[in-house]
Amino acid sequence: MSKLYEKLETCLASVRQKTDFKPEVALILGSGLGDYADEIKIETTIDYTDIEDFPTSTVAGHKGRFVFGYVGNVPVVIMQGRVHYYEGYPMTDVVLPTRLMGMMGAKKLILTNAAGGANPEYKPGDFMMITDHITTGVPSPLIGENIYELGARFPDMSEVYSLRLQDVIRKCADRCGIRLQEGVYVQFTGPNYETPAEVRLAQWWGGDAVGMSTACEAMAARHMGLEICGISCITNMAAGISKEELNHKEVQETADRVAKSFKELITEIVVNM
Ligand code: HPA
Repeated sequence: MSKLYEKLETCLASVRQKTDFKPEVALILGSGLGDYADEIKIETTIDYTDIEDFPTSTVAGHKGRFVFGYVGNVPVVIMQGRVHYYEGYPMTDVVLPTRLMGMMGAKKLILTNAAGGANPEYKPGDFMMITDHITTGVPSPLIGENIYELGARFPDMSEVYSLRLQDVIRKCADRCGIRLQEGVYVQFTGPNYETPAEVRLAQWWGGDAVGMSTACEAMAARHMGLEICGISCITNMAAGISKEELNHKEVQETADRVAKSFKELITEIVVNM
C-alpha cells in the first residue's frame, strides 16, 4: 500500500472515531461562501486540526473544518475552508481532503471558488459554471506513486465536469433566475494574482476565468471516479482586463455581495443533482 493511501486511511480512521456519517454529496466552499455551511441542518463538525495527519489551512477568513449535515434530505459533507497549493503544501496534501470526502462515501462533488474573469464579456458578480479546466500552471496532484486503491495510473480526463450535472445546473440557475456564464477555469499557483501577460496567455489557451484552486481537486476527484461539477464566482476582472489593481478586499466584497444568490443556487443544485 502506498504511503499516501496509508495517510488517507489514518485520516479516515480519525474521522470515523468521531462520526459514521455517510455523505452522498461533497461540497468545497470557496472564498466568501464559507458561511453556507452554517446554514444547513448540521449533524456534526470536525475541525481539521482534530484529524490525525491532516494538512491544516492558514488563510485568514477560511475556517478549517468538515461540516456534516443535510441540505433538504441529502446527506452532505462540506469543506469549510480548503487547502491551497500557495500555502506551501505538496499537491498531494492539497487534494487530501477531497480524496478523504470520497473515501467517506461521497459520490458527487460540487466545487466552488472565487475567480478572476479573463473573458471580457464577464462582469464581477457573475457566476460561471465550469465546463472544463486547464492545469498547465500547476503540478498534477497525481504525480508520484499511483494510489491504485483510488484509480488508474493514467486516468481519463475527457469529461471532468459531468455533462449530466452541467445540464442540472443550467436548469437550477434558470429556476433561481440567475444568469449563468459557462467557461473554462485556468488554475495558477498564486498567491500573487496573475500578470496581464499571464491572463492573455490564459485567454489564448481558451480560458475564461483564472484562480488558485479547484482544478487540482477536480483532477484528484475524477481519478477516484467522483461525478463533479463546479461554479466560479467571478469576483473581479483578471489583471489587465480592467485598469483596476487587484486586491483580496475586492474579491471578498464581491463574494459577499452575491453570496445570497450563490447559496440559493448551491442548495437548488444539491437537492436536484
Ligand atoms: N486571480 C486568481 N485568483 C483569484 C482572482 C484572480 O483574479 N480573483 C479571485 N481569485
